[in-house]
This record gives sequence, structure tokens and C-alpha cells, in this order.
Amino acid sequence: MLRRAGGRRHGPAAPRARELNHRWFAARRAGRPFTTLHLAQSLDGRIAAADGTSQWITGAGAREHSHAVRARAEAIIAGTGTILADNPRLTARTPDGTPAARQPLRVVMGHREVPASAAITDGPGYVHLREHDPAAVLADLAGRGIDHAMIEGGASIATAFLAADLVDEIWLYQAPLFLGSGRHAIADLGITTLAEATRFRYDDRGGPAHQLLGTDAVLHLEPTPTSRPETVTEHERTR
Ligand SMILES: NC(=O)c1ccc[n+]([C@@H]2O[C@H](COP(=O)([O-])OP(=O)(O)OC[C@H]3O[C@@H](n4cnc5c(N)ncnc54)[C@H](OP(=O)(O)O)[C@@H]3O)[C@@H](O)[C@H]2O)c1
Repeated sequence: MLRRAGGRRHGPAAPRARELNHRWFAARRAGRPFTTLHLAQSLDGRIAAADGTSQWITGAGAREHSHAVRARAEAIIAGTGTILADNPRLTARTPDGTPAARQPLRVVMGHREVPASAAITDGPGYVHLREHDPAAVLADLAGRGIDHAMIEGGASIATAFLAADLVDEIWLYQAPLFLGSGRHAIADLGITTLAEATRFRYDDRGGPAHQLLGTDAVLHLEPTPTSRPETVTEHERTR
């Protein structure tokens, strides 16, 4: 259709188009699905309280947003830890609770058994991959024709994908509360000094990079093209 309408692959906007889609193209070149990491956390970066409760850290507006992101993904990945702690359905639902028209494949990652009574086993589109290697999970999903996978957590899974540089975008839902103790969103990434930080930048190319939804801040991030630290600003130099 584009060709018939006079579209060109190498027009003057090609560099901008490549920049706009650079993470998508990188995922396609690697032959793996594009990945979206979902994090819903407290001000002190925690995704669950000391007793394991995490429903709900964020409010209805943020949850509605994350269900819309789920409905765009073709697969949702969670670890056995989250399945056993929260018993989530991991379906995409509309604000009134009805299932969205499009449902992602629900994927559990880890060696432990998922009980037959777990909510995730109910309904079509569920697979349990007895794996710890994020790359192997993505390769399996690519083999199923999946182009976009969302990582719903918990901390161990999120950390494993980040450590393997297999996160293409993040939707971060930041709730205005402290938990003081409990599970951190991300565990040890093996970073010992600031220069080694895994850096992301705000991404406003598909909509606002930050917004308030009800009580929560919602941030959209992508990895910086290089892992090198940004140039220090004049403010930082003179501080
Ligand atoms: N706030 C939120 O948005 C949110 C979202 C999700 C979860 N949570 C909370 O997170 C907590 C669970 O966190 P979690 O870290 O225990 O759960 P998790 O990341 O869901 O699952 C961890 C388990 O997955 C398996 N696993 C698979 N691949 C792994 C890898 N590469 N590295 C390590 N383990 C791997 C291991 O179990 P096996 O022995 O079975 O292999 C591990 O114990 C719960 O309290 C839950 O409520 C919060």
C-alpha cells in the first residue's frame, strides 16, 4: 500500500525513522521479541511489602494503563515466585473488568510446579517454561511467532532480563508511598560504581514520557543507546 502511494524506503526521513524504531529493529535483527518491562513500585523502589502483599501498590489509573499495555503485547512473562505469591490471572482487562478483545499468551518462567488450581492455568493461552535463561525464553517465544513480550515480574525475572540487556522499554508506575521494607523492584545487577550504571532515558516518541494517572506517576523509558554515562551538565559540574 505504501509503495503504491509513493512511499520510499530511503527517503530523507529514513534516519529519523531508524532512530524512532531503533530498539524494535535491534530486536528484529537479533531474531527475538521486543520486550516491555512493567514495574509498579513504591517511592523506595519496592514492589511488595514485607509480608509479600503487593495488590495494590498503584491506583486504578495506573492499573488501567498497564492493562492497555498488556493488550498490545503478544505474551506476558512472570516468574513462578509471582504466580505462587499473588496467583494472578495475567489477562488484559478493560476498566470494567471484562477481558480485552486481544489476549496475550501467558508465560510462566521457572522450575517450580504451578498448581493446577492456579488462576493462570484457567483459560486458553498459557505456557510454563522451566527455564531461568531470559534469552532462551525469548527464543522459545520467537519460535511461537511472538514479536512483543511484556515482563510483569517479579524482581528476579525483571533483574534477569535487565542484567542480560534484554529490556527494550520500561513502563514504570511510581506510587506515592513508602514501604520501608519488602521486596525491591530490582535485585543486584552486579554494578559496583556509578560509571557502570544501567542507564535509561525518557521516551516521548509514542506519547508522553511522564504523566500523572490518578495518584501515580507513569514513566516511559528506553535504554540509552550506549551504556556510557551522559556528559555531566554545567549544573552538576558546579554543584
Ligand atoms: N508490584 C508489582 O508490579 C509486582 C509485579 C510482580 C510481582 N510482584 C511481587 O514480587 C514478589 C515476587 O518476586 P520474586 O522475585 O520472588 O518472583 P519472580 O521473579 O516472579 O519469580 C522468581 C522465581 O522465578 C524462578 N526464576 C526463573 N527465572 C529466573 C532467573 N533468571 N533468576 C532467578 N529466578 C528465576 C525462580 O524459581 P524456580 O525455583 O521455580 O525456578 C525464582 O525463585 C511477590 O511478592 C509479588 O507480589 C510485584
